[in-house]
Amino acid sequence: MHFQFSEEHLMIQQAARDFAQTELKPGVIERDEHQKFPAEQVKKLGELGFMGMMVDPKYNGSGMDAISYVLVMEELSKIDASTSVVVSVNNSLVCFGIEHFGSEEQKEKYLKPLASGEKIGAFCLSEPEAGSDATSQHTTAIDMGDHYLLNGTKNWITNGSSASTYLVIAQTDVSKGHKGINALIVERGMPGFTIGLKENKLGIRGSDTHSLMFTDVKVPKENRIGEDGFGFKFAMKTLEGGRIGIAAQALGIASGAFELATQYAKERKTFGKPISDHQIIAFKLADMATEIEAARLMVLKAAWLKDNGLPYAQASSMAKLFASEVAMKTTVEAVQIHGGYGFVKEYHVERLMRDAKITQIYEGTSEIQKVVISREILK
Ligand code: CAA
Ligand code: FAD
Repeated sequence: MHFQFSEEHLMIQQAARDFAQTELKPGVIERDEHQKFPAEQVKKLGELGFMGMMVDPKYNGSGMDAISYVLVMEELSKIDASTSVVVSVNNSLVCFGIEHFGSEEQKEKYLKPLASGEKIGAFCLSEPEAGSDATSQHTTAIDMGDHYLLNGTKNWITNGSSASTYLVIAQTDVSKGHKGINALIVERGMPGFTIGLKENKLGIRGSDTHSLMFTDVKVPKENRIGEDGFGFKFAMKTLEGGRIGIAAQALGIASGAFELATQYAKERKTFGKPISDHQIIAFKLADMATEIEAARLMVLKAAWLKDNGLPYAQASSMAKLFASEVAMKTTVEAVQIHGGYGFVKEYHVERLMRDAKITQIYEGTSEIQKVVISREILK
């Protein structure tokens, strides 16, 4: 075992760090305030090969490992979690899902433009009545012979109005429970598919979250991923890797807030000395650094297990559970260290605090991560 990144990992990390400073930082406050989707930035991320990082180059991907992916997610999230969630959904849910479980035709048609960043993908599992309880699908995909007839509503869909390719989970045979669920590739513009209003959110406001409505949408049979009834397992297996991406996002939000708080504590003076010379502030920084380091090790371990073909469901849920709680704690303390300045937008930490909260909710809430972890331990 060695705790060192390769030269290649360090180069990828530096490229993401430079991109975050030069392309994401300018305008990040404005995008948050006006809920503006980072379209230009996402296009450039595609050009850098960051939209299909782990995809085989034969499908236009960058052929990198999961360690590289979490390094990039951390660096982007230090500055702009609204952009990094677009990267996370496209890479670890949509591209991963199609590459690992899709047919050769689906990879040619849908994966290639997603991996190159030419198109953006969305992953549509949640519904108004089915969030944590993901097997309770109300969206139906009725088998009509050569196509499925899709009806229902999906909620909270990231990239809702920016995507072109949507992986939609729906119930085909209710009598079979979760074994009657399918995953379908739905194209934007298919007749009967409409996009609802954008959610006005607490955090990740640059990311576009929408409900989606399907009314008698005809989805060709060849757009089903895997065997009939594989849809729920498809969603669960895909989310195992997705949760590593969100754990890395949480880690980035925490480390971004920590870097700002450390710099500020050295500069701001009270009672004739920098506030970092007051032990209580220095100890806050020590706690933040320790917890971030633990979160980083957990995120890297989950990525390493995935890269080495070992089971990673438990490690990924543990990393997401821990890193998201560290993100919340760290960002609250970073605002505190900034005093009144932390409460205004120019100092960035209030945004990081608002963005941190979503990492405890999406891709399975913290409570659901405990369900997954405890089931893994007890099985
Ligand atoms: N791999 C393979 N199969 C799995 C699996 C996995 N990781 N997890 C569960 N399954 C299988 C089970 O084995 C079971 O199949 P069998 O009956 O054949 O054994 C089947 O799936 C049903 O599993 P459970 O009985 O465990 O189902 P449950 O109803 O108790 O729910 C749950 C389990 C873990 C709570 C699940 O519903 C869940 O993960 N909920 C959270 C949903 C979620 O994370 N949503 C995220 C949406 S995407 C998103 O949020 C993106 C974003 O924001 C950016
Ligand atoms: P509920 O499931 O109703 O949970 C409410 C509360 O009860 C939570 O605290 C929960 O932890 C707790 N709870 C529920 N069940 C249990 C239990 N068994 N044990 C203990 N506690 C429990 N979904 C997608 O499919 N695709 C996306 O791209 C996507 N993007 C999102 C983006 C944003 C900004 C948001 C807010 C959500 C997004 N989601 C997406 C949905 C997200 O995954 C769900 O919100 C999440 O899974 C929780 O579901 P829920 O909101 O229905 O809460």
